[in-house]
Amino acid sequence: MKTVAVILAAGLGTRMKSRKPKVLHEILGDPSLLWVLRSLPDGIETALVVVHHGKAEVAGAMFSWHEEGLIRVQPQPVDQGQPLGTGHALQACAQTLDRLEAERVLILSGDVPLTRKATLTALAAHDAAILAMDLDRPGAYGRVVQQADGRLAGLVEFKDASEAQRAIHRVNGGIYALPWAPLRAALEGLTNDNAQGEYYLTDAVAALAQTVPVAVEVADPSELMGMNSRADQAVLQAIARDRVNLGWMEAGVSFLDPSSVFISPRAKLGADTVVEPLVRVDGSCVIGEGCLLGQGSILSAVTVENGAVIRSYCSVEGTRIGVGAVVGPFARLREGTELAPGVHIGNFVETKKAKLGRGAKANHLSYIGDAEVGEETNIGAGVITCNYDGFAKHTTRIGKRAFIGSDSQLVAPVSVGDGAIVAAGTTVTQDVPSDALALSRSAQVTKEGGAARQREKRKPKGK
Ligand code: UD1
Ligand code: CA
Repeated sequence: MKTVAVILAAGLGTRMKSRKPKVLHEILGDPSLLWVLRSLPDGIETALVVVHHGKAEVAGAMFSWHEEGLIRVQPQPVDQGQPLGTGHALQACAQTLDRLEAERVLILSGDVPLTRKATLTALAAHDAAILAMDLDRPGAYGRVVQQADGRLAGLVEFKDASEAQRAIHRVNGGIYALPWAPLRAALEGLTNDNAQGEYYLTDAVAALAQTVPVAVEVADPSELMGMNSRADQAVLQAIARDRVNLGWMEAGVSFLDPSSVFISPRAKLGADTVVEPLVRVDGSCVIGEGCLLGQGSILSAVTVENGAVIRSYCSVEGTRIGVGAVVGPFARLREGTELAPGVHIGNFVETKKAKLGRGAKANHLSYIGDAEVGEETNIGAGVITCNYDGFAKHTTRIGKRAFIGSDSQLVAPVSVGDGAIVAAGTTVTQDVPSDALALSRSAQVTKEGGAARQREKRKPKGK
């Protein structure tokens, strides 16, 4: 049966107090709508996304997710015009659904991000079903009325509900799998004669339930919570964080304090990796097995190979870290950094577009930008590649097994050959051949007793 997803996302989201459309607000770095699109069961190829407020922004975002391969389904925006209710949103999709020859629709909300794919797959196994949840405090959700055999009897919005109906704890999650032909017919009969003056999708579902048996599936409330405010967003982030971290624990990753660690749902971690407190792993990072992610480190677009150690408080982006490399504490690795296996990068070292060969070391206080460093080369404390002359960026090339003495500057473009030594404090402005020694210092002057004479001269009078 051909099933088309319909995702409702035209609402303004007033309570978010934002310039950004509500469905683009993020949970663990990924917009709510992206979570929803990712959760769709296999076999669904098209998702109609009902938009209005911020429609260009929403459409642009979802096309780019599809292009980047973040979602499998083809998203298609449908402009609802002035949003007149959830039923009106479905009416706006009718022509497109007919054209697509949809036999069934799976209806979701763009602001309900954490429904699991397995839950939606189970829902979509029914011919007709709605997803509900049981809440101790059912609040303003729509109430689910069931027949004696459990089938759906009706859906009543809170504002329209009687006292007896308001006492029902089973509420409508707003997610439905329904046959399109009878739903279409039910939508044609909708009126907005209700407390909110809206065309309610719930009325159409209740009408459909009079002719087609509709099952009521109950899901965990954490899967059906909506994001209507910044407070909701924070709660959803915590739920998502716990879910993601628990998944990695089950896969063999240790956490010292999982409640303080935020890992993107797109990241991958290998077994026996240990994650210390306050770590953030953004986007599609790939972390190997047996790694350490030290306290307070933030990683984005990073690949970390097996056994690498990232000590505390490192900022790492757009970087590849090789097997067994050691980074930090307090290192900043920027885009285009590639560390071969066994490289050591120490405290207060910044790298950008820098390739370091196997076993190379830069352990203290350096800037290595637009540079290639050969294997086993040692970069001393305070070495700077002067890659920018105020107009353009230039490259520094350092060979294998070279030694760059502390506090040297390499004024690019410049190269240092294999096995060369640059003496401490040297400003390298010319290429240094292999095995050469480069040295640029002014001669030292030492005055015997000079310090004692200075102290005598500066002594306060009378002492
Ligand atoms: C809806 C349900 C309610 C259910 C709740 C679950 C209706 C009438 N009520 O209420 O039974 O308990 O969801 O979360 O359906 N939207 C549009 N176009 C519109 C109106 C809304 O696209 O014209 C979108 C919104 O952006 C949102 C979703 O539909 O993503 C739900 O709309 P909302 O107004 O939040 O409905 P609720 O009052 O939460
Ligand atoms: Ca809502």
